Amino acid sequence: MLRGRHILLGVSGGIAAYKTAFLIRLFKQAGAEVKVILTEAASHFVSPLTLSVLSEYPVQQNFTVECAEGTVSWNNHVELAQWADMMVIAPCTANTLSKMVSGTADNFLLVAYMSANCPVFVAPAMDLDMYAHPSTQAHLKKLTDFGHSVIPAETGFLASGLHGTGRMAEPENILWHINQWWLDRMPLRGKKILITAGPTHEPLDPVRFIGNQSSGRMGIALADQAARLGAEVVLVLGPSALAPQQSQVVLHRVETAVEMLEVCKNNWDGVDVAIFAAAVADYRPEKVGTQKIKRSSEPWSISMVPNPDIAAHFGAIKGSTFLVGFALETQHGLSYAQQKRIAKNLDAIVLNSLEEPGAGFGMTNVVHWIDQQQTKSFELMDKTRVAEVLWEQIIAQL
Ligand code: C5P
Repeated sequence: MLRGRHILLGVSGGIAAYKTAFLIRLFKQAGAEVKVILTEAASHFVSPLTLSVLSEYPVQQNFTVECAEGTVSWNNHVELAQWADMMVIAPCTANTLSKMVSGTADNFLLVAYMSANCPVFVAPAMDLDMYAHPSTQAHLKKLTDFGHSVIPAETGFLASGLHGTGRMAEPENILWHINQWWLDRMPLRGKKILITAGPTHEPLDPVRFIGNQSSGRMGIALADQAARLGAEVVLVLGPSALAPQQSQVVLHRVETAVEMLEVCKNNWDGVDVAIFAAAVADYRPEKVGTQKIKRSSEPWSISMVPNPDIAAHFGAIKGSTFLVGFALETQHGLSYAQQKRIAKNLDAIVLNSLEEPGAGFGMTNVVHWIDQQQTKSFELMDKTRVAEVLWEQIIAQL
């Protein structure tokens, strides 16, 4: 959830500030970038140096920065707020909480907060009676009304020696809460996606096969992107040197079209979207030699039988599953692809036209999205980006 995201962590002055060292570690381990703002009071509880070493950025504290030769420049809180994909205020003291509600912009944390358009998470921390006080509870309610996410304080021993509710949520729980928040907003959350990708190899004998030039890159990019968007992904991949990067993708490696169909059938239950990106061999040798076929001076003809059409098989039984096929054409791309979509009963088909330079088997592709209502053409893009735009199309139709 947090990989590559920018987290602006605002630390206000409570004893729980020391725990932000662990929080930064967790954010970094999750793949996020972290910049820290410390209030004056917080810097008495945790050293800016500690947080700067852990976050690998200078810690921000003031409205101005001192430059060489005694000059002073403005510390740009707007830029910092715009850099952030989310702001986390932990610990949030009763004082900072109250200022956030009233819009009191009298320290660098507060001006950055007021400039932030991103999601804001607040982990309050204070003594039990302060936490239970009607003003604190009213302020927390107000933050929820602002659209912020409040990570409730936990119960246990407090710095005062009392036992009760008011401890800042443990760093692991803050991380869990934030992950969950992003997960709930993933557009493919709860969806099961089946993707075929790569070539198939149709054996002639134990060492030879008939295959094609597909690398599997496009289907793998689609699988990775679906996983990033929160889906449960099953990838049925023909012989390919590549592999998905997202560990949540369930990978089945297969060799032949018949195996690919079998694995798809076994994983078909509950599929919401199926994408047939594999370059499945249309035919396979009728007979497969059990031993290596010997060379001879005579011509050799191979009798081929049609392979099952995996896309058409599921098109015939599709129900409410959204089906997307691919078409690779060397001429009359748009009309051939549309015919193929209709013949296989697919909801949409993606045309790779070899008529366009850069399209096809390499790292980049030029694609056209064709569904029942429209055709959309995209410029030359790398396949990761193609996967993003194709998912935008699919999500718009789900
Ligand atoms: O008929 P053609 O091979 O051009 O159709 C391409 C589409 O059909 C692709 O989505 C491909 O993955 C799928 N297909 C399939 N099984 C086959 C042949 C094609 O799933 N045997």
